[in-house]
Amino acid sequence: MTLRLAVLASGRGSNLQAILDAISAGTLDAHVVGVFSDRPDAAALQRVTESLRWSRRPKDFTDRTGFDAALADAVAACQPDWIVCAGYMRILGGAFVNRFPERILNIHPSLLPKYKGLHTHQRALDAGDTEHGASVHLVNAALDAGQVLAQARVPVLPGDNAEVLAARVLTIEHPLYLHVLQLLAIGRLRAQAGQLQMDGHPVYTPLSLESAHS
Ligand code: GRF
Repeated sequence: MTLRLAVLASGRGSNLQAILDAISAGTLDAHVVGVFSDRPDAAALQRVTESLRWSRRPKDFTDRTGFDAALADAVAACQPDWIVCAGYMRILGGAFVNRFPERILNIHPSLLPKYKGLHTHQRALDAGDTEHGASVHLVNAALDAGQVLAQARVPVLPGDNAEVLAARVLTIEHPLYLHVLQLLAIGRLRAQAGQLQMDGHPVYTPLSLESAHS
């Protein structure tokens, strides 16, 4: 099935670009039906044709609920199979999340449940971790707390700073997100009634990037 993807992004959009490149290369059976941003100047928006772009400034709405409702209406109009957060830096409110139950993915630059929120790379360094990584998870109303579907790991190396470590994590974020999306596209991974299933079996522990290859 060709997945219809609505991508939410606030920044540079390298994960979005990886998705677009995989679609072009024929390695991901998907179609980006819209790119949505809370920042009209987000570089991510420039990666797709103007007709696919939607952006509004939250400060132009009277409250957060109003912005979320406008975003949800615009996303729903595209009839996506999945909403893919890729560097979307606003917390999605409960009304938004409940409108698309088990249909929202996020990629977070840590091995969840470690380091929810911001500054994950510095926090991993400060903790003296020897490995770090990224997680793809379902989005619910709590920050970075939905079910983790897949993770990929990188080593923390002597002399790393947050910037160097972030760059290393980013190199595994792109293939990790693509693997999860392709597993969804080919129907091996399914979300049903609050339960993730891989090949018909409940997913209790996150898939690793390596096992996603098998
Ligand atoms: C990535 O590190 C992602 O994990 C985090 O925000 C960053 C987005 O990067 N949520 P990009 O905009 O996809 O390049």
